[in-house]
Amino acid sequence: MIDPALITEILIPSDELQARIVELGAEISRAYEGQDLLLLAVLKGSVLFLSDLMRRIEIPHAIDFMAISSYGAGMESSGAVRILKDLDAPIEGRNVLIVEDIIDTGRTLSYLKRLLTARQPRSLRICTLLNKPSRREVDVPVEYIGFDIPNKFVVGYGLDFAELYRNLPYIAVLAPECYTHG
Ligand code: IMP
Ligand code: MG
Repeated sequence: MIDPALITEILIPSDELQARIVELGAEISRAYEGQDLLLLAVLKGSVLFLSDLMRRIEIPHAIDFMAISSYGAGMESSGAVRILKDLDAPIEGRNVLIVEDIIDTGRTLSYLKRLLTARQPRSLRICTLLNKPSRREVDVPVEYIGFDIPNKFVVGYGLDFAELYRNLPYIAVLAPECYTHG
């Protein structure tokens, strides 16, 4: 188990995550009922969210994955976003729902939306588990939000610091000693 000294606070316990995901799944099932649906998960942070969310979506849907660089091993958005792994199949004419772990500055998603729009999907919406509204630099409309959270660096439930702590079943605030110097 993780050293408790690394964590200052459990922001969202596991049962609250799961309860909200049930609601999101129901909402998405209603919105896309009778329509084609492709969940596009952004690796790697959204994999735990995707796997729980898709089990709560009661209509037929496909999944695909994309990996893009954003923060690298650190904590600041580089602004330079590039594709590390592209989708397996074209999305032209499809209803695409991007599944993200967290929206911070909005740079990553704004870039991704532009890139995917050029591929002419039928519709393109965003579902994010976490949202940090106070950090937004680029305006990007988000249709489904799990939780708005304060401006704190969080880990767990897929989210990492330097590739670690993704396995925690809850969302936790990382102790500043873990990533500050001096
Ligand atoms: P944005 O481009 O600034 O919106 O950054 C989005 C990406 O930054 C997310 O997909 C995460 O990979 C990462 N990120 C932003 N805030 C956090 C955080 O608090 N913990 C872990 N990763 C974060
Ligand atoms: Mg991410």
